[in-house]
Amino acid sequence: MLLRCLPLFFAVLALLALTAEARPTRGTLLSRQLTVEERGLTNAERLKRGLPPRAPAIGRILPGRAPSAASKYARRSASPSPSPSVITKTFTGRIQVRQANKTSVGFVNNTDTGFLTVDVEKAGTDLRVKIATTASGGPFSLIATNQAWVGSPFVGGGTNDTLAAGSVAVVPIANVPQTSAHAPPTANGASAIWTVDAKTLQLKPHWTNLNGSVVKTTIGYDFQANLLFLTGDIAAYNSLNNNTAEAVKFFLVK
Ligand SMILES: *[C@@H]1O[C@H](CO)[C@@H](O)[C@H](O)[C@H]1NC(C)=O
Ligand SMILES: *[C@@H]1O[C@H](CO)[C@@H](O)[C@H](O)[C@H]1NC(C)=O
Ligand SMILES: *[C@@H]1O[C@H](CO)[C@@H](O)[C@H](O)[C@H]1NC(C)=O
Ligand SMILES: *[C@@H]1O[C@H](CO)[C@@H](O)[C@H](O)[C@H]1NC(C)=O
Ligand SMILES: *[C@@H]1O[C@H](CO)[C@@H](O)[C@H](O)[C@H]1NC(C)=O
Repeated sequence: MLLRCLPLFFAVLALLALTAEARPTRGTLLSRQLTVEERGLTNAERLKRGLPPRAPAIGRILPGRAPSAASKYARRSASPSPSPSVITKTFTGRIQVRQANKTSVGFVNNTDTGFLTVDVEKAGTDLRVKIATTASGGPFSLIATNQAWVGSPFVGGGTNDTLAAGSVAVVPIANVPQTSAHAPPTANGASAIWTVDAKTLQLKPHWTNLNGSVVKTTIGYDFQANLLFLTGDIAAYNSLNNNTAEAVKFFLVK
């Protein structure tokens, strides 16, 4: 939400700068020192007086929300933006789903519901994806480039469930809103949960729980339901579901 508002914020800021320039002022509003009293004003009060709004604080605590462990974690782990000279690399391909013994069970299917399945019938309806890495180390967002579903092209964990060792909770792999690295999931999930091994091209999930903890994450494949999900404990899932799932790995393949 805050991120979506940023372009608007900068547009307002630019507008303020322009109006400031057009007016005969006591120094431009953006450059002159604000008085102590002015600095204490809320943004609404500032705008009323024609003063620039406060600088945006990404990850700041919203009014009425207690500072959660998650928001503290998000601020602590916020890394500076990589400099323009940092080489970023983009990987593309289909996602091959492999069992522990490296046997392929098929490719991630371009399922139009947005909840991802495996194309076990090799029907040629594979999903194509792209992931761009930077020196930040990630995790990064995975984006579909030929999606059959309506809505966000990002692919990640589709709920805000808490995963843990010993927990039967799972998070389906689905299309999700775009999020940033280490951010706790939105009600509809999180996208920036993937890293890619540049040598093996394995895509690995790293789920951040609502409380900001990063859990050791396994991809589960329920071959009976044809469902791909994230879990912190595949054995716990299996004990509830008659061993209909196995741990699998994702690999990018051309
Ligand atoms: C790989 O493991 C699966 C069960 O997880 C089994 O059905 C399959 O036969 C195994 N493939 C090989 C080549 O061992
Ligand atoms: C794979 O995706 C195609 C296209 O969206 C769909 O028609 C088909 O039912 C899907 N198959 C599976 C196994 O989900
Ligand atoms: C988690 O998601 C559910 C809906 O799926 C929502 O009702 C709840 O408010 C979300 N919790 C948080 C903390 O975002
Ligand atoms: C977050 O939740 C997980 C799972 O319930 C728990 O294991 C962990 O200790 C919690 N971490 C914090 C910082 O509260
Ligand atoms: C597991 O199998 C038992 C016995 O076949 C059956 O009664 C039960 O409904 C199954 N549970 C699930 C979650 O499929």
